[in-house]
Amino acid sequence: MVSSTSPVQKTVQKKSFVQVAQASDVQAAGVMVVQTKGHSIALFYHQEKIHAIDNRCPHMGFPLHKGSVKDCVLTCHWHHARFDVTSGGAFDIWADDGRAFPVDVREGSVRVDLTPREDAEDYQHKRLVDGLEQGLSLVIAKSVIAQLAAGKGATAAFQTGLDFGIRYRRDGWGVGLTIHTCMMQLMPYLNTTDRPRALYHGLSAVARDCAGEPPRFAIQPLPETPANFQTLKGWFRQFIEVRDAQGAERCLASAVESGVEVTQLADMLFAAVTDHRFIDGGHALDFTNKALEALDHAGGENAAGILTSLVHGYAQAERMEESNAWRYPIDLVAILDRAFEALPEAILAGRDNRENAKRERVKKEHTKSLETTFSTNFSTNNDATVEQLVAILLGEDPAAIATHLLEALRQGCTTADLAGIVAYAAALRIAQFQTNNDFSDWDTAHHTFTFANAVHQGLKRSPSDELVRGIFDAAMAIYLNRFLNVPPARLPKPENQVDKPDELLHELSEQLNRQQRVNAVGNLVGTYLYSGGDPAGLISALGQLMLREDRDFHVIQSLEAAVQQYQHWQNHQAGIHVLVATARYLAAHSPTMRSQGQTYEIAARLQKGDRMYEED
Ligand code: FES
Repeated sequence: MVSSTSPVQKTVQKKSFVQVAQASDVQAAGVMVVQTKGHSIALFYHQEKIHAIDNRCPHMGFPLHKGSVKDCVLTCHWHHARFDVTSGGAFDIWADDGRAFPVDVREGSVRVDLTPREDAEDYQHKRLVDGLEQGLSLVIAKSVIAQLAAGKGATAAFQTGLDFGIRYRRDGWGVGLTIHTCMMQLMPYLNTTDRPRALYHGLSAVARDCAGEPPRFAIQPLPETPANFQTLKGWFRQFIEVRDAQGAERCLASAVESGVEVTQLADMLFAAVTDHRFIDGGHALDFTNKALEALDHAGGENAAGILTSLVHGYAQAERMEESNAWRYPIDLVAILDRAFEALPEAILAGRDNRENAKRERVKKEHTKSLETTFSTNFSTNNDATVEQLVAILLGEDPAAIATHLLEALRQGCTTADLAGIVAYAAALRIAQFQTNNDFSDWDTAHHTFTFANAVHQGLKRSPSDELVRGIFDAAMAIYLNRFLNVPPARLPKPENQVDKPDELLHELSEQLNRQQRVNAVGNLVGTYLYSGGDPAGLISALGQLMLREDRDFHVIQSLEAAVQQYQHWQNHQAGIHVLVATARYLAAHSPTMRSQGQTYEIAARLQKGDRMYEED
């Protein structure tokens, strides 16, 4: 006797069924494949029932009708994943669940229900969580593709990854969440088709980072009325100073609980993370900036969870006061300490200078002077001023670097603009990186650049006097990196131009298929931009080329920081140089095996309904 499978009992009343075969034919054949309405369905006759399942194995699409069924367990013959033939659920969860279709057998006809799931949204969310928990990139990719195809924005999946990452890694914020946030930051600059791919990379990084890690149990705020913000900030810094992560976390949680503005929380974090020099090679401050950006995307609901996940890293971080390079042969820390003593006066003088400039401008407008522009003594609109300071930053005299930074502040340069100039100098270390260096030296240049960018973004968000110390730290790291530009690689020349810059984007892709194309790629990007090529097109192309690689954490950070710096400088020569820098960095790390992209492609094709390995 032939009967239908159990799912039909629950759903038959609501569904619309499609006739696909005669029951007697299925029974006689044991297994057969039918094509209907874009679906390829394997029908199995097993234990007197007919079961219908998507014929494409959810793992990589191998035809399941070529598998075997025993005791209601269907085994795919490619990688031997096993599935419950009735529900499609996988026993080997790396293969993902298959889709089983409810079956109804009436008067000898087999009908299957193709109605999409009613709970598709909840189901995809659950699959994403499963993917994160089990570290299944394929499941993550499928879920993200389905969610975005259904018109759900990227924020929901981002939030899911963020919540997961801060909860399931005892040491808190790390590489995975940084990649995840970088991807979210890059999203607006990517082609629409690359956005789910970016999300997939970020979420997969979170899953990798949390794999095998114990969970993190957040520390609760102080009971009752918390102390005022300044007290909490002071305690927080004291506790970080003595590497007491628990005490510090409680202060931060209390500050969040008290309802202070995110700007104040940023101030509290940036103060502590710059109380010592260039801690953890710049990562701690960069992570702080990323956590605040994650908060921007996700909203403030879980501010405590996100921000307190940083604290462990602060308490554990290596401090450059303890490193030889920052102490000998020149004591950079002593130079910085002297500069920091002068900082309050320099910042104040700069504010006065800007106020005077503003007053002067109003006066001139009032008197209808023909002279409509007036700036402070230091203007980032003045190329010569910027170039002069950059030359000093790339120079050989750390004391002069500190002196000129202070002087720029006194003359009225805003702290954010000064941080932008320092980030530009850091990018030039990469744009002029000599490829004869040791390969690991790329990271040395990279760390300074992303740190400098984070200081810049932090000062735009929360212009605290304490964070200004980060500008000086970045400047000293640039000084220490001077050996990377001996001799400096040549920057692309403005006079090198072509008529059709867009054609260079195709060549860029080709160049990145080959190793050792650093200088060629840098020149190509420079030529493209100097020829009037659309920077947005270049940025989306770089994003796409980065996403096709199994690139490491730094390549992603580099591109995201360069895009932020480009937004600051735009078509100024500095904007061109930061994109040249990140393109060179990408070239140095390309090509890779591209296995992550392969997983994504499989997921995309399966999700689209493509037939993968079936014969016609
Ligand atoms: S187990 Fe079926 S394709 Fe891999």
